[in-house]
Amino acid sequence: MAMSLSLIVLPLLAILPSSYASPKPMLGTGSSSLVENYKQTFLTSPNSDFSCGFYEVGGNAFSFSIWFTNTIEKTVVWSANPKSPVNGHGSMVLLNHGGNLVLTDVNGTVTWDSKTGSGKGTTVVLLDTGNLIIKDSNGAVLWESFSSPTDTLLPFQPLTKATMLVSGYYSLYFDNDNVLRLMYDGPDISSIYWPSADYSVFESGRTNYNSSRIAVLDAEGYFLSSDGLNVKSSDWGTQIKRRLTIDYDGNLRMYSLNASSGNWIISWVAIAKMCDVHGLCGQNGICQSLPSFHCSCPPGHEMIDPQIWNKGCQPQFSKTCNNTEEFEFIKLPKTDFYGFDLSYNQSISLEECKKICLDACSCSAFMYKVGPALCYTKAVLFNGYSYPSFPGDNYIKLPKNLGITTSLVSRKSQLTCNRDIPEIVEGYASMYGMNRVDKNWTTYYVFAAILGALVLLFTGTSWWFLSSKQYILKSMEAGYRMVTSQFRMFTHRELREATGKFKEEIGRGGSGIVYRGVLDDK
Ligand SMILES: *[C@@H]1O[C@H](CO)[C@@H](O)[C@H](O)[C@H]1NC(C)=O
Ligand SMILES: *[C@@H]1O[C@H](CO)[C@@H](O)[C@H](O)[C@H]1NC(C)=O
Ligand SMILES: *[C@@H]1O[C@H](CO)[C@@H](O)[C@H](O)[C@H]1NC(C)=O
Ligand SMILES: *[C@@H]1O[C@H](CO)[C@@H](O)[C@H](O)[C@H]1NC(C)=O
Ligand SMILES: *[C@@H]1O[C@H](CO)[C@@H](O)[C@H](O)[C@H]1NC(C)=O
Repeated sequence: MAMSLSLIVLPLLAILPSSYASPKPMLGTGSSSLVENYKQTFLTSPNSDFSCGFYEVGGNAFSFSIWFTNTIEKTVVWSANPKSPVNGHGSMVLLNHGGNLVLTDVNGTVTWDSKTGSGKGTTVVLLDTGNLIIKDSNGAVLWESFSSPTDTLLPFQPLTKATMLVSGYYSLYFDNDNVLRLMYDGPDISSIYWPSADYSVFESGRTNYNSSRIAVLDAEGYFLSSDGLNVKSSDWGTQIKRRLTIDYDGNLRMYSLNASSGNWIISWVAIAKMCDVHGLCGQNGICQSLPSFHCSCPPGHEMIDPQIWNKGCQPQFSKTCNNTEEFEFIKLPKTDFYGFDLSYNQSISLEECKKICLDACSCSAFMYKVGPALCYTKAVLFNGYSYPSFPGDNYIKLPKNLGITTSLVSRKSQLTCNRDIPEIVEGYASMYGMNRVDKNWTTYYVFAAILGALVLLFTGTSWWFLSSKQYILKSMEAGYRMVTSQFRMFTHRELREATGKFKEEIGRGGSGIVYRGVLDDK
């Protein structure tokens, strides 16, 4: 009798959803969790620092995620399905009898699976480090969440050549030349903004020569990369909980947990001046970080969606190339649109620079630096920013009949949607369908503003000393900027193959020799 009872009870226990039991550190095949029971976790790490289960990303939308257990607001560190949340009714995660961990939506569609299949004896475990692992019956690791990060790296979780952190249009990854970079890859353009393309890899304190391509945050708050990047959190040395996250505003930040309050404190940031992040203000938009971060539109342009700044600004005129049309230039002081240079000339007058832009149908604006008399014409206007210390002015080309007068400009450039940070955060959050809002933004921006002011002071005073050196640097960098911000990067080998070992020279110019080449896709 006792035996037959246990024969009945044991299978029943296996069938019962795990959520009815207290959180376990390890589950076997047949274990499942229903989205309706999302308040009970699927797994908890033995030290209870991390939990794993269904996380509500928005109204009735859930992801299968890992988060910190002891923070005021759930801080997700990994998601199986960051871009395709499942329904809040009828969705399920199951370690099936084949040994595959499967996330299914309400209609049975498999939204995500671990692609493991070692059958009986397979277990899923959440480790103290926050790593979710699937092991076969011999204990060999078949799959781990540390190998497929989403937007966050935890201590000891390596970023490798095979992985990247992604948040919206932004990513942190190892480039083909072994350098760890931040890139904006939006609907219209893609461009790298960290380390700055204004400096060589070496000048940025990095190296191309180590091809191991590995970066790790350690227990003491050091983030070390094989390309020589070596940074530490402001509270380095202490053993506290940290994470490195690429946020939806494109900045990479290290956070430290205040264990007594459960809040995160920013303890390191990759981009000190927010306007150096590309794509924030969209096409034609101009970013300003003082007095507070905001985007505005140049004269003759209107914001496409004041709620979502990175949609950019729309011209209020048609950009047709009409020989009979008359243009005028409106000066935007201390402003530049980074990259997308059409041409570059040095030692020419402002009038000559205007003429070059007038004569080029595709020229939308130019940037002019008075001292060294540098002239950069621009085709499209991206990554616009305005810093009081910027040593140049932008002149935007507009049809004369728009009737924009200079007095109107000064009024217009003050206009804008000056909204404070928590609101843009919402803008971005709604854009990506997320509602993670960090409460520490205000603190960070006060800090950033002070830092920014110091940087401005420094660059302002050092500009005069450095201007002669920068003049040379800038002329070398002109070509590089055109390449880095607008186009895909090719390896030397790809170019050699495309050009048949640089067989046919078709011209020579200031930036080098031009060869004919055909790419793989013709
Ligand atoms: C199940 O639902 C998802 C999203 O709601 C949908 O994309 C998919 O086509 C559906 N699949 C089936 C088989 O109905
Ligand atoms: C390359 O980087 C790795 C990881 O940081 C390091 O262990 C190794 O010593 C480096 N190799 C060289 C040749 O510097
Ligand atoms: C941590 O939080 C506590 C309580 O809110 C606060 O008193 C303390 O200053 C915080 N520590 C840091 C380093 O911010
Ligand atoms: C070109 O500009 C002239 C004068 O502004 C205007 O009358 C004409 O319609 C324009 N043509 C086109 C094709 O836009
Ligand atoms: C500007 O530079 C281009 C080459 O980049 C040259 O062809 C052109 O003549 C220059 N224009 C002036 C006005 O110097």
